[in-house]
Amino acid sequence: MGDAQEQGRAQLPRKAFSPQRDLLERDTERAAIDTLIAALGGERLLAIEGPPGVGKTSLVVEAKARAREAGMEVLGARGSDLERAFAYGVVRQLFEPLLARLSAEERAELLAGAAALAAPVFDPEPMAAAPPRGFTPATDVAEWLVRQRVPFRDAHEIAGRCVRRCEELGKDLADLSDDELAAISDHLTSGVRDVLTVEGSVAARDGRGGTAPARVREQLDELRRTVAAHRAWLAGADAH
Ligand SMILES: Nc1ncnc2c1ncn2[C@@H]1O[C@H](COP(=O)(O)OP(=O)(O)OP(=O)(O)O)[C@@H](O)[C@H]1O
Ligand SMILES: [Mg+2]
Repeated sequence: MGDAQEQGRAQLPRKAFSPQRDLLERDTERAAIDTLIAALGGERLLAIEGPPGVGKTSLVVEAKARAREAGMEVLGARGSDLERAFAYGVVRQLFEPLLARLSAEERAELLAGAAALAAPVFDPEPMAAAPPRGFTPATDVAEWLVRQRVPFRDAHEIAGRCVRRCEELGKDLADLSDDELAAISDHLTSGVRDVLTVEGSVAARDGRGGTAPARVREQLDELRRTVAAHRAWLAGADAH
């Protein structure tokens, strides 16, 4: 633990953090929230806006708590820059935690009828099973070659030749036969196919912070430890 952090701890009061719920001068807003909650069955929108620090987040927390107290299922999502590039990011944030909590029968019930069209978004299986399409895996080919000790400038060139050959043959990289691979370069053995699947491609990036499952678990463990330490500190307990 660094000195600066220790000093920071000493200066801050050790007090459990809880979102503000004893809101002052918010009677109008509370009434609007309660009207919204009472209008069960209808579609309603409540937008909260205001200058920085005026209490927007506190009102959202209040609205969620009041809805829960009224027996509603409350789902939440955040729309940030990240979600723009992440397909169905907001939809997944909203529904994944709920679906993960449900039993198989309850899930099936929820994803029946028109909602069935949304089911693939929440099902990781088909995505993992489908071979990567297009030429995204060209990078995997180049990286695989480098791991076979082919210099990167050659690996890059060979990966490019693979893409050209696929375009000529109207194939995906994963569909090139052993002979077709060998004709492109002696370095391309059938082993390259290991990285041309979703799982292989994800597993191949096994440097620190990489996408390989063991590395992701490592990062999750680190995060959980950090969260636990912060939580202990915020609760006033000794974080050590
Ligand atoms: N009605 C209120 N009565 C008393 N304290 C409040 C009230 N609303 C907010 N606060 C307190 O004011 C501080 C800022 O509130 P909050 O974080 O909700 O504001 P915000 O508008 O979301 O801020 P930002 O613009 O930074 O997102 C918090 O400490 C919160 O507990
Ligand atoms: Mg806020």
